[in-house]
Amino acid sequence: MYEIEQVVLQSRPGKTNPPSEENFAYAKAPPIESQPIECKDGEIVAKTLYLSVDPYMRGRMNDHIGTTLSHLSSYIEPWSLGEPLSGGGVGVVVESKCDGFVKGDIVQAPFPGFWPWQNNVLFPSEVELTKVDNAYLKEHPSLLLGLCGLTGVTSLIGLEVKGHIVPGKNQTVVVSGAAGACGVAAGQIAKLLGSGKVVGTCGTDEKCQYIRELGFDAAINYKTTTDMRSALKSHCPDGIDVYFDNVGGTISEEVIRLMNKDSHVVVCGQISSYNKDIPFPNPLSPEVQEIATKQNVTRELFLVLRYNDRVPEAMQKLTQWVQEGKLKSRETVAVGLENTGKAFVSMMNGGNIGKQIVKVSDH
Ligand SMILES: NC(=O)c1ccc[n+]([C@@H]2O[C@H](COP(=O)([O-])OP(=O)(O)OC[C@H]3O[C@@H](n4cnc5c(N)ncnc54)[C@H](OP(=O)(O)O)[C@@H]3O)[C@@H](O)[C@H]2O)c1
Repeated sequence: MYEIEQVVLQSRPGKTNPPSEENFAYAKAPPIESQPIECKDGEIVAKTLYLSVDPYMRGRMNDHIGTTLSHLSSYIEPWSLGEPLSGGGVGVVVESKCDGFVKGDIVQAPFPGFWPWQNNVLFPSEVELTKVDNAYLKEHPSLLLGLCGLTGVTSLIGLEVKGHIVPGKNQTVVVSGAAGACGVAAGQIAKLLGSGKVVGTCGTDEKCQYIRELGFDAAINYKTTTDMRSALKSHCPDGIDVYFDNVGGTISEEVIRLMNKDSHVVVCGQISSYNKDIPFPNPLSPEVQEIATKQNVTRELFLVLRYNDRVPEAMQKLTQWVQEGKLKSRETVAVGLENTGKAFVSMMNGGNIGKQIVKVSDH
């Protein structure tokens, strides 16, 4: 018999309000046995180890995904009220009647992740769980949600397909949201791919200090810097060649103003607009749009889910870099399934350094 605890959506914040902890509710559901649910042929019961909370989930809190995240509407659906939520997750098999899976296997839901916010999960045969074979990742399964999972893969593939980094060209790279999961990875990966100087923007002095320790050449606290344009200019005297954009809005406007001829924006995310209802990528002001057009800046939509064929190779490369100590990140860990909604809200408000995850149970 499996005790079930879950987190459900109990209210929607509305498209233009920030999410709050009260939008989520933690509940003890009836045990699987009494539902009645048993592990039948082809099925797996897994114990959840870690859950991922991600900015795109803000769109799932709306009754329609919304304008800002409309490009995701063919991949994800709004969460239903009262239903257990779902996202990236990793767990361990506790019972299996599915060929190829045995008790003790570490498993993961397919990207972008359909792992319920639940302590024990019965996976029907049609859910294609991935069994983790890599010994290092089996020992460190939370990495499958961060550096070696969706966020690391996003940063690597984003830079590869939209960044156009050429080793030896000494390109200047700016990363916004630089102390978050994708940002921390993007700054380090830009260097590993052969860029020149890397400058990050983020929201606290502690974050700035951390990314400098990771090898960023400079860090700007956008919350305390009164003149972002001068700060960016002083750190990027030769202009900006690649901009890995996690945030959109005014920070991005200031970065794009300084971009060189034929330079590239990797439009990874626009988190500053996720509590608004404006298009993705955020429209630029006429003045900055004119600069971008004159400078022939490319600013194409990037969606990692469109590059599934590149994911296995990317994961392999990222895992190797992590094992070699070339790619690092802190994790911000909330403990307990009941704190998943709180962890999501905290991440949306900048409470995390590196990847925000939730530890649900021991390995
Ligand atoms: N294109 C894709 O396929 C893809 C895949 C994954 C993620 N993404 C996007 O990548 C971005 C980063 O995601 P992540 O998972 O790595 O999250 P994250 O950066 O770890 O966490 C979000 C961070 O955003 C910052 N933030 C929040 N509100 C902001 C605002 N108004 N202005 C500036 N910064 C703000 C906060 O840091 P501060 O303290 O610095 O404010 C917060 O820590 C998101 O936009 C996400 O949608 C895209």
